[in-house]
Amino acid sequence: MNRVYIKTYGCQMNERDSEAVAAQLRGRGYTIVADEQSADVVLLNTCAVRDQAEQKAIGKTGHLAKRKRKDPNFIIGVMGCMAQNRGEDLLERLPDLDLLVGTQKFHRVPEMLDRFIASQKGIGPRPSTIVDLGEESGSEETIREHTEGERKVSSFVSIMQGCNMHCTFCIVPKTRGAERYRSMDSICEEIEELVAAGTREVTLLGQIVNSYGMRQIPYRSGISPFVQLLERVNAIPELERIRFTSPHPRGFQKDLVEAYGRLEKLMPYVHLPLQSGSDEMLKRMRRPYSRRRFSEIVSQLREVCPDICLSTDIIVGFPGETHEEFEDTRSLFEEIRFDMAFIFKYSERSGTKAAEMGDDIPAEEKESRNQVLLEILGRTSLEKNSALVGSVQKVLLEGPARKGEGMFMGRNPGNRKVIVPASPRLVGEIVPVRITKATVTTLSGELCLTGIDESESAVLSH
Ligand code: SAH
Ligand code: F3S
Repeated sequence: MNRVYIKTYGCQMNERDSEAVAAQLRGRGYTIVADEQSADVVLLNTCAVRDQAEQKAIGKTGHLAKRKRKDPNFIIGVMGCMAQNRGEDLLERLPDLDLLVGTQKFHRVPEMLDRFIASQKGIGPRPSTIVDLGEESGSEETIREHTEGERKVSSFVSIMQGCNMHCTFCIVPKTRGAERYRSMDSICEEIEELVAAGTREVTLLGQIVNSYGMRQIPYRSGISPFVQLLERVNAIPELERIRFTSPHPRGFQKDLVEAYGRLEKLMPYVHLPLQSGSDEMLKRMRRPYSRRRFSEIVSQLREVCPDICLSTDIIVGFPGETHEEFEDTRSLFEEIRFDMAFIFKYSERSGTKAAEMGDDIPAEEKESRNQVLLEILGRTSLEKNSALVGSVQKVLLEGPARKGEGMFMGRNPGNRKVIVPASPRLVGEIVPVRITKATVTTLSGELCLTGIDESESAVLSH
């Protein structure tokens, strides 16, 4: 009666929230299962950024409802951004839901489930649908738990919740609320615990990480609170690598650029959302930077760290996007040569400012603009990856690869996936890999023993 399956839609923040819910449930005696069939409870952690993501979760819930009609003890919960976005209206469409849990209430899930389980054991009545979508002060500190005893070489750590920007297309400020920051002490303690359990790399998560601590933690000799946090994390012994996602171009000041030159654990990789290369479009999107400023940040980063890898988000087909405006995006996208990018077709979100502008770019036109950028991305990534063939990359081995006996997966400093035959003993180690093959998304290679002292090569040969 207590097997729970959690399905996650959307971004890394959502993955992290699901992981914290799973850890909290385990702590309460629930078993987290990897397949839906054997579960007594299915929780969907949802995304509301695009309509497609919402439709997928709604379709899935409808499907689960069929099972519930045969098995009334089966429990279905919808958590996260779509729950917050659509609220109780969702119950009209999905009357079989047992739980509807907002983005500030993840930590309440165990006690909610306890009530259902108690009723199934004959203790107390079966609750009707539990709806909890309110705000809760301090909830940013509740996404903290990781499953005990489970080693994760690379872990996500949530440093803040919410976003105070007003990008006209974006539903996130509605679903995630205003910015709330965790304390540096609490974040660093969490990372120290993770490191003690075997973590070697952390990715600090927030909707707009370089806003971290704004107006709460003072600048120190021109150093922003976010960079102060990076400095503290950089000083944690035995942690090897730091990444974060996502910063906003607006707050990408000199102190953050320079951090790449002086914090040795900060990996040479940035996900910096561009959205559009047209100044007019950026204004309509309410993104407070220009094409020129974005290029300037990229040049500064490349100056401090010549082989820094860059990824970005782009929206095509935003209301009123003309051919010339798209051409501005295309040319800048080509010029910057991103290593990775997420290209999204604009999706109207009701309640946003952009929804008042109409959704006037036809679906085929959005698709064709999408294809133009994907073609550039595919070409650039392949060129950049191919240039690494023959080089030796420092790869942090995360675990077995999805395919191939004896094959392991890790990442190079630039965040590229690298596949290599290795031994389970090397998981969690940074190993030198000579790259022998490159595709658009992945590198593969062989462990490279030259240049390593004998004791290490003994380990490597096992
Ligand atoms: N600041 C956040 C952004 C969250 S949304 C972060 O990167 O952490 C992630 C991406 O989805 C955005 O950068 C944007 O490119 C895309 N997106 C947001 N709203 C969208 C919409 N209405 N239609 C299409 N794409 C959208
Ligand atoms: Fe969304 Fe813009 Fe914030 S994309 S998450 S409103 S920075």
